[in-house]
Amino acid sequence: MKQVQTIADVKLEGKTVLVRVDFNVPMEDGKIADDSRIRAALPTINYLIDQSAKIILLSHLGRPDGKKNLKYSLKPVAKELSSLLLRPVLFLDDCLGKNVAKTIEELEGGSVVMLENLRFYAEEEANDREFAKKLAVYGNAYVNDAFGTAHRAHASTDGVPRLLSIRVAGFLVQKELEFLGNKTANPTRPFVVILGGAKVSDKIKVIDALLERCNQMIIGGAMAYTFLAAMGKSVGSSRVELDRLDDAKRALEKARQLSVKILLPIDHKITNQLDFDARTVGEMRTAADSIPPEWKGVDIGPKTIGIFDKAIENAKTIFWNGPVGIFEIPACAEGTFAMAKFVAKSGAISIIGGGDSITAIHRSGNADRVTFMSTGGGASLEFLEGKELPGIAALSKK
Ligand code: 3PG
Repeated sequence: MKQVQTIADVKLEGKTVLVRVDFNVPMEDGKIADDSRIRAALPTINYLIDQSAKIILLSHLGRPDGKKNLKYSLKPVAKELSSLLLRPVLFLDDCLGKNVAKTIEELEGGSVVMLENLRFYAEEEANDREFAKKLAVYGNAYVNDAFGTAHRAHASTDGVPRLLSIRVAGFLVQKELEFLGNKTANPTRPFVVILGGAKVSDKIKVIDALLERCNQMIIGGAMAYTFLAAMGKSVGSSRVELDRLDDAKRALEKARQLSVKILLPIDHKITNQLDFDARTVGEMRTAADSIPPEWKGVDIGPKTIGIFDKAIENAKTIFWNGPVGIFEIPACAEGTFAMAKFVAKSGAISIIGGGDSITAIHRSGNADRVTFMSTGGGASLEFLEGKELPGIAALSKK
């Protein structure tokens, strides 16, 4: 992939800069439950403040389906940003209209304005050209620092930048591309990949792509049962994607041909009853290798934890995406928290992607020992799969 220009490559001093950020943060009862995505954009915003640029922040929040719905208002986000920046952030309750135009016209250098949720207009997700034009006239330069939304070809990620001659990446996007791109494509070896989560279908393309880059791949979570079933193991009533057994077999064969070791669980925490919504399990046992009928695997077992620990200990680069058990339920969380601890203490370059693994790292109290946490969910997976992300493709190349 050709390198894109960044804010450090162009002159933005005194310019009115449209900055697409991804402030799609989790909200609980109108409060921000995790402000990582806001914090991650601070270096870019602070840099632009130092350049005396007039900063117009564009974002979406949630999926309001093209209608104004105050449940998805960015107002609380603007307030939080203001307290993180230690300066005022002017929030406008629309992203279009006379008031927006007038406010922007009267701005002084170094001011920060946040427009209301772009997805209150259906035209945003439709990548409508007229809508993009209306946004583009507000600025004379564009910065994309919304890595989490870079896999969407929407007006603010594709239409708007293509209408402006200065269209560059912010520091967050630059860092994401460096860690998910260069650091995994040319890794310091051994490179160990840890993939978990429920479905092989969500991860098969990433498995395929990363098998070509890594030395060992650890597979946990419900996904592992599809692999074990494909190998003819008894997995009881564990979650298995029957239509993905062939994909699993193909991945195992590819790993064999590339001499990449795939590590799967050799023992399991199992239960005879699971209600995920109520976050409850029935009786819990440890099963060695084969899982009896009527029982299902919900976490990796103690021997597996030991084997995965060894692999992680020897790694020089680690990429981790997805929990290895149903970590939302405390009785099934041991394996995932063990992974978080091993990754943090490994001393390797550690790159974490996906909300669940990041939550696990935070809850385990080890977040400060991780090299890089991606802000992208779907975007980081699509990037690792080797797809060109529309939000990146729309930026100027170096
Ligand atoms: C995300 O959280 O993955 C991004 O903000 C994109 O959101 P979307 O999946 O609603 O497009």
